[in-house]
Amino acid sequence: MFKIGIIDKMNNKGIDLLKSNKGFSVDLITDLSRENLLKVLPKYDGVTLRRGFLDSEILKDCKNLKVIARHGVGYDNVDTKYCKENNITLLITHDSTSTSPSEHIMFMILNIYKGREMFDRMVRDGKFSEAIHLDIDDNFEIFDKKILIVGFGRIGKKLIKKCLGFDMQVYVYDPYVDEGTIKSLGGKKITQLESGLKDADIVSMSVPLNKDTKNMIANNQISLMKKNAIIINVSRGGVVNEKDLNDALDRNIISFAGLDVFEKEPPNLDNPLLKNKRILLSPHSATFTKECLENMSLETAQNIIDFFYGKIEKVKIVNL
Ligand SMILES: NC(=O)c1ccc[n+]([C@@H]2O[C@H](COP(=O)([O-])OP(=O)(O)OC[C@H]3O[C@@H](n4cnc5c(N)ncnc54)[C@H](O)[C@@H]3O)[C@@H](O)[C@H]2O)c1
Repeated sequence: MFKIGIIDKMNNKGIDLLKSNKGFSVDLITDLSRENLLKVLPKYDGVTLRRGFLDSEILKDCKNLKVIARHGVGYDNVDTKYCKENNITLLITHDSTSTSPSEHIMFMILNIYKGREMFDRMVRDGKFSEAIHLDIDDNFEIFDKKILIVGFGRIGKKLIKKCLGFDMQVYVYDPYVDEGTIKSLGGKKITQLESGLKDADIVSMSVPLNKDTKNMIANNQISLMKKNAIIINVSRGGVVNEKDLNDALDRNIISFAGLDVFEKEPPNLDNPLLKNKRILLSPHSATFTKECLENMSLETAQNIIDFFYGKIEKVKIVNL
């Protein structure tokens, strides 16, 4: 029987799926402290991982560990070099983790473009009739706006359909996806990030965080953008430089931002982004829908089962 540790909260559907399989014994690990992970992880053959950092110091005593199944697609909380050197397979949720984030991007665009918070507050504060006297300079139609999708993987490909449904013009920057694929899905390939940034009304980030994408959007890039432009980041904090973004919003270089992810999570309470009224914030919750969380937990559990039964699909394995 394989011993599986479920690191961090996970929807019950996936936990029940693993528990119902006679080949596995399952423990829930809710204390994510370094001390606890160092103490409890060595006994497991496999783990699922949501939050919590599995670095080489924690992994070095895990002599039985054969597989880490991420509850999600990002794996910047795992020491991939150590996994590769020690024959630990790293799996991701390939199918379940893109619909809700692509919807979250649309949720952010719609909220920002339609002044949701302002109008909602006016009605509640008895200022219904004052709305007609407002100068509406910050609310826009989505129709015909140019969106630049940076990173055209699972999320980007789901997002483009929604943008085209709103009659937007879609530009894509992803050096690893060919022009034909982008064109067949209704987008136009941009080969230089800078030229896309100059034209875009909306820039939406859906790239992994790595050494090439860290600070991909910083002062130099933001200064190219239009004054009315907005930036949406649901990928990873650090892809957009937080300080540069905050300064640019304060100096009216661009108009608004929507952030689901932060360089440090949770962000410190004195992080200036939290005070900036021109940013719509959410707590890394782009996947927090009933369907997505159920499906992610089921896919994570199924990945563990498929791995130990030798049936794991290649596409779920992070090629280290
Ligand atoms: N906020 C959330 O809850 C949430 C949920 C899901 C995913 N994410 C993050 O979003 C990222 C994207 O998710 P996905 O499922 O679409 O991943 P994916 O791997 O399917 O797609 C990423 C795309 O980025 C492209 N890319 C890589 N480097 C690039 C670069 N330098 N410039 C332009 N494009 C580049 C790749 O070619 C790929 O097409 C994930 O890595 C994850 O960190 C966040």
